[in-house]
Amino acid sequence: MKMKGVVLAGGTGSRLFPLTKVTNKHLMPIYDKPMIYYPIQTMADAGIDEIMVVTGGRNSGDFLRLLGNGKDFGLKRLNYAYQEGEGGIADALSLAEHFADGDKICVILGDNIIEGDIRKAADAFRSQERGAKILLKEVTDAERFGVAEFRGDKVIGIEEKPMRPKSNYAVTGIYMYDGTVFDKVNKLVPSDRNELEITDVNNFYIHEGTMTFDFLEGWWTDAGTFESLLRAGNLVAQSRMNQG
Ligand code: G1P
Repeated sequence: MKMKGVVLAGGTGSRLFPLTKVTNKHLMPIYDKPMIYYPIQTMADAGIDEIMVVTGGRNSGDFLRLLGNGKDFGLKRLNYAYQEGEGGIADALSLAEHFADGDKICVILGDNIIEGDIRKAADAFRSQERGAKILLKEVTDAERFGVAEFRGDKVIGIEEKPMRPKSNYAVTGIYMYDGTVFDKVNKLVPSDRNELEITDVNNFYIHEGTMTFDFLEGWWTDAGTFESLLRAGNLVAQSRMNQG
């Protein structure tokens, strides 16, 4: 079954001030390319050729100039949506409802960069009857992320940035959803930080019993803080050199 892609690239990038005072975080360089190139390439490599980029905040017009119609990535279709205000990841996602049009979607947070690819997980999800899939990665700083809680080998819940993480497995910003995701988003209530949380969407699926998960292979990093931005650049540079 067909799966479309949604890259979320809004937000004010406040953790990167003053770097993001005059531009959007996802336009910043990661080694030799703008950040947004990486999630788009991750999707293209997984056979996703219809993508919507949701931007907002500063310089949203620059995305159009940078990415055009997506031809450089071999895309069939590249759409754009504009997020007003600061409603959070799930609020940004809700703007893709019309684009998704009932199809499955793969959502990637625009600052998530990976070494490998998500082809296997994407194929598995294409043939999954319904529900959602998340990709987990073992980390040493789980409190920075959504964290999976396990019972045996089952994920029974996700906690967003817990002070005492119940596992070392971060929920990466790569999510796959069936067409019911927008009904779930519409049921959300704002969190303590006044955002619609993607973690709450994922917990809906977990409680419904339709969430599957995979472990992401290769390195994974976000790039939304000074440390992770630098790390992302170094990891990409290192991979490039290893490839010669
Ligand atoms: C977001 C999600 C979090 C996830 C992370 C991955 O956090 O809320 O669950 O683990 O992305 O990058 P943010 O970095 O937007 O605070």
